[in-house]
Amino acid sequence: MNLFDVYPLFDITPVNAQGCYLWDKNGTKYLDMYGGHAVISIGHSHPYYVKTISEQLEKIGFYSNSVKIPLQEELAHKLGELSGYPDYQLFLCNSGAEANENALKLASFHNKKKRIIAFNKSFHGRTSLAVAATDDKSIHAPVNENENIIFLQFNDVEALQRENGNDVCAVIIEGIQGVGGVNIPTNEFLKAIRSWCTQHGALMILDEIQSGYGRSGKFFAHQAILSVKENSPDPPLPWRGRGGEAPDIITVAKGMGNGFPVAGVLISPEIKPKHGMLGTTFGGNYLACAAAIAVLDVIKNEKLIQHSTEIGNYLMNKISAFESVREVRGLGLMIGVELEIPSATIRTELLNKHHILTGSSSNKNTIRILPPLTITQQEADIFLNAFKQVLKTTMIPAQ
Ligand SMILES: Cc1ncc(COP(=O)(O)O)c(C=O)c1O
Repeated sequence: MNLFDVYPLFDITPVNAQGCYLWDKNGTKYLDMYGGHAVISIGHSHPYYVKTISEQLEKIGFYSNSVKIPLQEELAHKLGELSGYPDYQLFLCNSGAEANENALKLASFHNKKKRIIAFNKSFHGRTSLAVAATDDKSIHAPVNENENIIFLQFNDVEALQRENGNDVCAVIIEGIQGVGGVNIPTNEFLKAIRSWCTQHGALMILDEIQSGYGRSGKFFAHQAILSVKENSPDPPLPWRGRGGEAPDIITVAKGMGNGFPVAGVLISPEIKPKHGMLGTTFGGNYLACAAAIAVLDVIKNEKLIQHSTEIGNYLMNKISAFESVREVRGLGLMIGVELEIPSATIRTELLNKHHILTGSSSNKNTIRILPPLTITQQEADIFLNAFKQVLKTTMIPAQ
């Protein structure tokens, strides 16, 4: 049997990984400035993470959601405390798309409405509702066509306010648009969505699948954007107390499991559950919970949220001074570098000549920098030196 060929692949075969590095089958070492698409949060093969999952597997790996699994409660408790949402409820599933699918369905169950507002350049996943709310026609199959989705201009407060809100069950927005090219919602826009939703009886869904889990320098990007006080303790507890701007639903995946497939839907206490309304076979299994608990422990113990801000600011300051860079957008370690030219050649040079992995985006001039949150300044410098050199040699032709 052949693999179904859906991905363009780099010609490298990683067989080992540690921290911010990967090694291929020939022993070549690669610096990971992409984190396997923002998934690697606490670093590859973190010893505590490996130990926690291995020990769990020795005990029990799986049973269905028909029995009590206290690890799920431990995970919900730790996630609530670290994220600043201790009073929210957690539904566990397996992937980002599935988290958004459940979030949208839950919103509709809750208020019995069916239209969804999403924004241009959004990416919410590939399952039917998630993909319908994704602004990319090329990944919509005819069966995904859904007349209930309205796309509005990102960061356009007036366009939102012009919507009459009839029958809108939810407004869904990324904490920071990732695939769309690292576009940050303004504080004003998030506040406008919050009040529009409250006014129209719609739910506000924050897709923090890429931007969450400390990547932005707060647990969630919307907290970084909406933070009222500078230098506030991290995380502010309970975050909602700050001015009532909290979303009704928040979705998480990627960094949550550091590579183990696990995702979650954080649900406001106002939304009441009913048996049978959501469900999953694998969601919340013992191994996924062990992985997700280990991730939260490491984020907390190694102060990775604060570290993201420090190294992120360091990287962004340095990169902004590079000559051929048009714009640097980002928060913490979610960074988009928009170049004067398409980024593909630069990324290929970084990979082939310097063995550094970076990410692309739907904006062809934008490179995404999404390293593990454990990246050191020394590793950041290795990237900066290589990037500077590649920009110099690729953008300015030799005399
Ligand atoms: C913001 C956002 N939402 C949802 C998803 C979908 O996640 P998954 O690929 O785990 O289904 C992604 C994946 O890139 C994403 O970046």
